[in-house]
Amino acid sequence: MTAQLTVVGAIDDLRRYVRARRAAGERIGLTPTMGALHAGHLSLVEAARRAADRVVVTIFVNPAQFGPNEDFTRYPRTLAADVEKLSRVAADLVFAPPVDEIYPPGFSTKVVLEGPAHADLEDRFRPTHFSGVATVVTKLLNQAQADVAVFGEKDYQQLLVIKRLARDLDIPTEILGAPTLREFDGLAMSSRNIYLAPEERERAKELHCALSEAARRIVNGDDIGAATHEARARLADAGYDVDYLEARHAETLAPVSSLDDGPIRLLVAAKLGATRLIDNIAVQS
Ligand code: PAF
Repeated sequence: MTAQLTVVGAIDDLRRYVRARRAAGERIGLTPTMGALHAGHLSLVEAARRAADRVVVTIFVNPAQFGPNEDFTRYPRTLAADVEKLSRVAADLVFAPPVDEIYPPGFSTKVVLEGPAHADLEDRFRPTHFSGVATVVTKLLNQAQADVAVFGEKDYQQLLVIKRLARDLDIPTEILGAPTLREFDGLAMSSRNIYLAPEERERAKELHCALSEAARRIVNGDDIGAATHEARARLADAGYDVDYLEARHAETLAPVSSLDDGPIRLLVAAKLGATRLIDNIAVQS
């Protein structure tokens, strides 16, 4: 029998909870999500728990980060199942606001970004995405006033954007990244994996294989351009429509041409049928 987890939808209730826990001398951790939770999300909750005494999980499908032709309306909304999963891990409160709690009538402010939000990666294909993410994350961080917030490395560019945003806007919450959880065949866990048809799911493992092979070649001294070109070709052969597969500096996302250019991250986005998958790995020598 698991304890009943409290779900609130009002910012005032979230703040009241945080104030009370703070007054009791506790550290607050935050795990922002869009719901449709899988084991990857639960590992973020566990990471937040390791860094804090209480964990607040937010569940909000943020309309501002979806482009006009993206999957906002069909994005899976599974609140009851999510709460059930969270009640089995170390979550203490769920904040699941309705859209007008976050964007009340007359809402008219947006966070405008530079730096890692303009790396010619996700931003090239989703030009309004990071401003929508940054706006909602700024609001969630302000609303929760947490000591620490955990975001997945799966959305690597997003993680760097959020770290920079917290630093630039003097938001006192510490931003932590947590490693990507993978399925048995290496596919990064994602709420969007359920869109894959069985035959696409079979080919989806190629994404991680192509990244791993490119990383191995780079570590072994192969030319970075040749290794990434080969990985793109491999994905195209497997039926992917590749948006990008690039080697970048792991902290700045600047292009890199050799191992001497600093810590390297390989990042990919590619469509398999109608489903767009993203992934990334560190190149470790
Ligand atoms: O990574 C996500 O799930 C979302 O982009 C986030 C950070 C919860 C903001 O809506």
